[in-house]
Amino acid sequence: MSSIPSQFPSKNDGPGSQKCLHASAAKGQQVDGGLSSAGNGPLMSTVENILRFQAKALEMIATGQPLVSVLDAISRYVEQQAEDIRCSVTFIDAEHRIRPASAPSLPAKYKGDLDDVLVYPYIAPCGLAACQKEQVISESIELDERWSDGFRSMTKSLGLKACWSTPICDAEGTVIATLAIYSLHPGNPSAHQHQLIGVATRLAGIAIERHLREERLRLCAEIISRSADAIRILDPSWKIIEQNTAHRELFGIPDELLLGNTPAIIFGEEQFQRQINSLEAEKAFHGDLTAEIMGEQRIIDVTVFPVHRDGGKIACFVSLSRDVTESRKTQEEMEKSHAELETAVEARTSQLQTLSARLMTTQDEERRHIARELHDSAGQYLAAIQMNLGAMRNSPEITSAEKSRIQDSWDMVERCSSEIRTISYLLHPPLLDEMGLRYAILSYVEGFARRSGIRVDLDIPDGLRRLPAEIETAIFRVVQQGLANIHRHSESRVAEIRLAEDNKQIKIVIRDDGRGISAEKLNHFRSGKQLIGVGIAGMRERIRDLHGEFDIRSGASGTTIEVNLPVLQRLNTRGAKTKSATA
Ligand SMILES: Nc1ncnc2c1ncn2[C@@H]1O[C@H](COP(=O)(O)OP(=O)(O)OP(=O)(O)O)[C@@H](O)[C@H]1O
Ligand SMILES: [Mg+2]
Repeated sequence: MSSIPSQFPSKNDGPGSQKCLHASAAKGQQVDGGLSSAGNGPLMSTVENILRFQAKALEMIATGQPLVSVLDAISRYVEQQAEDIRCSVTFIDAEHRIRPASAPSLPAKYKGDLDDVLVYPYIAPCGLAACQKEQVISESIELDERWSDGFRSMTKSLGLKACWSTPICDAEGTVIATLAIYSLHPGNPSAHQHQLIGVATRLAGIAIERHLREERLRLCAEIISRSADAIRILDPSWKIIEQNTAHRELFGIPDELLLGNTPAIIFGEEQFQRQINSLEAEKAFHGDLTAEIMGEQRIIDVTVFPVHRDGGKIACFVSLSRDVTESRKTQEEMEKSHAELETAVEARTSQLQTLSARLMTTQDEERRHIARELHDSAGQYLAAIQMNLGAMRNSPEITSAEKSRIQDSWDMVERCSSEIRTISYLLHPPLLDEMGLRYAILSYVEGFARRSGIRVDLDIPDGLRRLPAEIETAIFRVVQQGLANIHRHSESRVAEIRLAEDNKQIKIVIRDDGRGISAEKLNHFRSGKQLIGVGIAGMRERIRDLHGEFDIRSGASGTTIEVNLPVLQRLNTRGAKTKSATA
């Protein structure tokens, strides 16, 4: 019984029925060209002949003979088996170009004409076979209209009449070469020739694929050897079996001392054990290790990972090392100086905050002092002048013209007294100390609404407790500045002020429905920068000094200022003060 593999053409298969032959499909499988050992006589001798050649070709491959020599041997063998045929093997490179590799019985013109030509279906049978991944039989090149004129005239000049081209694919199914048999007579391949094509294609595939694999390995070895990273390769029992040039240069250990030892020879037993533990737990190791190199302790950044075989078993461990001593030191120094800088900035900020708090307090005290002085001295003098003027005005000895001038002066002194009262009130409302925050705000808001014509909706708890002086002053100043801004900038006709308190904090909201603050100014302020004016910045500073929160929101429908001040602790403080004052 015949055991013809399915991808192998049988006698009954028509021309062109052979699919792409996978080089790797022949692995571990006897390449018998589709012939079984059944039968006898000439058939038997054909099988023996093929098997002998197959053994010879495989030996050439195994002993590392140059690829072209192996392909030439295959081509020649095919040519010897049938009369008037020529065999060629052509690579299809990664850029999809034709690279004639072996055509031992064809003139150089053949290779020259096809070399570097981009693969496309109608360039030649090998082009079509590569594109279709199927065997292409051209019974008569001359009459076959599929081929380019160039190919037809080139083959005609060489006396080639028929072409049977078979693609060769790698394990992934990519066409890596084609094997073409040219006949000096038109016609299709015989069954025997089909069998030869099968054998030759498989052997050529094995040779090419092995060659490509070796090329890849050579490339990898070259990359490893030239890598700037120090690389060592360890066998599954952690013995070092390879080191590259960078490794040799980094650690300065010659092969004869290093190979066969574990990495403990470089990093010591304890650090070596760390790598093993990490690989067992996490399948990889990455970290800083220390190694003594030329009598100096160096920091080495080490990565170790296993490489597995197809079956999942560990083939080897690859370890990459980089000397990071300098960069780690620089990093450490940078971190240290960064921390120092931060500490210095924090200290400076806190100094500035203390200073600004002191400035505010001094300013408030100064204002209070000026307000008193104005009231008590200038105010008293003006009152005295007014009294004198009043007495003079009523004197019978003055003329009516003098009387009228005295009256003018009296009116001016009256206005002046009123101005001084207002200024002194704005500088420091006396009611704040005596009557408390609630009464001071009520009185201030009433005066503000009257003078500005802005309706103020005020919501302030009836029983608002007395708060520490600095808190009452801060809240009063925020309300005062908030209303001043509404008057000067918002164009709003209404304003809203809400105060609410609980045990822990007091909350103040000042709102208008005016034109709002421009987004640009607001972002500028929110990013912590100073605005042109000092009003809002001053509010924020005051609140921050008292450990409160200050927020300002603004848009097309108006501006809202929201302040939250913690008061519990301060209430207690004031309580303590009050007690001691009354005691
Ligand atoms: N309620 C508001 N509505 C619209 N714009 C406002 C309002 N409040 C403040 N602004 C804008 O924000 C800016 C900064 O206000 P801020 O109170 O800090 O300074 P100022 O009022 O200009 O000057 P001053 O130092 O006298 O207070 C103002 O110039 C104004 O453009
Ligand atoms: Mg202002």
